[in-house]
Amino acid sequence: MLQEVFWKGDELFMPAIVLIGTQWGDEGKGKITDLLADRMDMVVRYQGGNNAGHTINYKGEILKLHLIPSGIFYPHIIPVIGNGVVVNPEVLFYEIDELAKKNISAKKLKVSGNAHLIMPYHLILDEAAEYKLGKAQIGTTHKGIGPAYADKASRVGIRVQDLLDIKIFRVKLEQVLRQKNPILTKVYGLNPLDGDKIVQDYAVYAERLKEYVDDTSLLINKALDENKNVLFEGAQGTLLDIDHGTYPFVTSSSPVAGGAAVGAGVGPLRINKVIGILKAYTTRVGAGPFPTEQQNEVGETLCEVGYEYGTTTGRKRRCGWLDGVLIKYAVRLNGLTSIALTKLDVLSHFEKIKICTGYEYEGKIYYDFPPHQTIFHKCNPVYEELEGWKTDIADIKNYEDLPRQTKHYIDRIQQLAGVPIEIISVGSERNQTVYFNKSEVEI
Ligand code: GDP
Ligand code: IMO
Ligand code: MG
Repeated sequence: MLQEVFWKGDELFMPAIVLIGTQWGDEGKGKITDLLADRMDMVVRYQGGNNAGHTINYKGEILKLHLIPSGIFYPHIIPVIGNGVVVNPEVLFYEIDELAKKNISAKKLKVSGNAHLIMPYHLILDEAAEYKLGKAQIGTTHKGIGPAYADKASRVGIRVQDLLDIKIFRVKLEQVLRQKNPILTKVYGLNPLDGDKIVQDYAVYAERLKEYVDDTSLLINKALDENKNVLFEGAQGTLLDIDHGTYPFVTSSSPVAGGAAVGAGVGPLRINKVIGILKAYTTRVGAGPFPTEQQNEVGETLCEVGYEYGTTTGRKRRCGWLDGVLIKYAVRLNGLTSIALTKLDVLSHFEKIKICTGYEYEGKIYYDFPPHQTIFHKCNPVYEELEGWKTDIADIKNYEDLPRQTKHYIDRIQQLAGVPIEIISVGSERNQTVYFNKSEVEI
């Protein structure tokens, strides 16, 4: 069946695929990236950093990647960390070393020289700023992501290429510490950072990093020119997007599909296909509005059955029903060409399953993402109730074998989305997957 997804006759017709999260992250991007990866020549991360936590079931072992692209497990793949990613070198080498212990080589890994570095002060400032926000805090991963992107935008960021000339690195660091140390000491009452110590630590990373640094935009474009298959692996999700998400409860990058062009250095017209990863229900980690959240037994069941605990921070994820308004929003913002529906097996535990199809606010029903966030904060979700299937579907491989009620749920999602569901995931393992290429979407 995978043939149908990627081939038309003998011809491959979609060399550049962007894979994105349609919700608030943790949709199962890692599993689907891994699933598609054996057909790919390159897997590229284009935004975010080690705030991501992508879980892959590798030969029965659960592995978690935060920074390295999920294609790393295939020796034929070139994994790429693009210019739009923020790189914590300590985490990068930790992941490389952990993979090496499992005989997985990162030799082919390429890191963009234009990617920005996460520096020690970013980590400290992330935590300190959250603390200062008190009750208004975002609930970040404390990985220094926001401060690193803020410095990039303020043009005081330090890039991977700066590490290749330690003299330049030192000059840039001294300049930036002239700003950061007074903030650390005067605003937050913390100790100043010692530039020499940072130079010493980062000089060690520089030595190791050299072999991986490359012009990744050039490499990716060359690969596409040669008709190679490139998968752009999104991190986070559409509702965490800095522009389109639930600001300020978002991350600091652009997880939407358009971010792939900027964050990897390819023209937007090179992208052939955008797959949205959609969890069969909704979860969110951290603070911020969440209309379909279920702070009750339903939410608890979703959390326990779906094992909804953060891959990066271990925090319990907030859980709720699927939100059709958000599906439509994700289709629109990302130009989704298809959907991979994940964790459908988790819903097997419910007699009745709900889908939100609109938001009611002050007597009006919104079927599209509301124009003002107050509406999103305060709305009452309008639900449709569907029959559950109450059967274990984790071992089903063919669409035809799914229970009638499961097919109905899938159909309803397709109707709301207006794009086909191509892949259905019914378990964390690679083979717990149903390929489904329904050509006509009933609207
Ligand atoms: P990502 O950040 O989008 O890559 O997702 P995470 O890895 O943070 O979270 C998804 C979790 O669900 C991981 O523990 C996966 O192993 C697991 N998972 C992925 N697909 C399925 C599925 O279809 N069913 C079940 N039960 N678990 C899944
Ligand atoms: P993956 O790739 C879920 C959330 C944090 C917080 C907000 C901002 O595994 O889907 P940040 O540290 O980025 O400044 O935090 O974004 N967040 C994620 N939530 N999955 C992720 O990544 C996330 N990355 C960041 O919890 O609410
Ligand atoms: Mg995750």
